[in-house]
Amino acid sequence: MSFTVAIDGPAAAGKGTVSKAVAAHFGFAHLDTGLLYRAVGRKVLQGVDAITAAKTLMAEELQAPDLRTQAVAEAASKVAVIPQVRAALVAFQRDFARREGGAVLDGRDIGTVICPEAEVKLFVTASAECRAERRFAELKQSDPELSLATVLSDVRARDARDSERSEAPLKPAGDAVMIDTTTLTIEEAVAQATAVIAAKRPG
Ligand code: DC
Repeated sequence: MSFTVAIDGPAAAGKGTVSKAVAAHFGFAHLDTGLLYRAVGRKVLQGVDAITAAKTLMAEELQAPDLRTQAVAEAASKVAVIPQVRAALVAFQRDFARREGGAVLDGRDIGTVICPEAEVKLFVTASAECRAERRFAELKQSDPELSLATVLSDVRARDARDSERSEAPLKPAGDAVMIDTTTLTIEEAVAQATAVIAAKRPG
């Protein structure tokens, strides 16, 4: 039996943490779809054409150790506006969503474009200031020169690019349940998501 949980939201809102936690709780497989765009962005930084990179992407490239860098995140956000890149990544995501035993996919367009039939749709968000502070706390150890103002402007630039693109922009599905993590602990956010999924689960 398949059961799809679609979790969308902007960068650093906590959707990755929530997705991993609910997947572990229910025993569902988890796909961070941002890694697909990051893997394509990484190949572009190596000089490969974006559309070719998306069409030839291999599962093992999702394991590359440098996918979490700011440079790759920037490149990912740029390749994500290209319709042919998005189209090349659809089948992989839909196959993953319909696998036996349940799947959680997190991204920007899972509930709206990739899996509009998902049994559960969540939109996990938080204020830009709160997301910048969280990202800054993560990055400052490895980059002591970094300022909060720089991180906030990066967060805003990425939000704008993700939300304003014509192809699959970041927006909640009409039937998504909103979880605003600005004032929630991780445990509270996970508990809200778990409750929504438990209520929709058959049996
Ligand atoms: O979630 P993330 O930061 O790893 O995502 C990297 C970029 O990929 C982000 O700028 C938006 C894009 N993305 C997308 O367009 N659609 C998705 N389903 C997931 C990510």
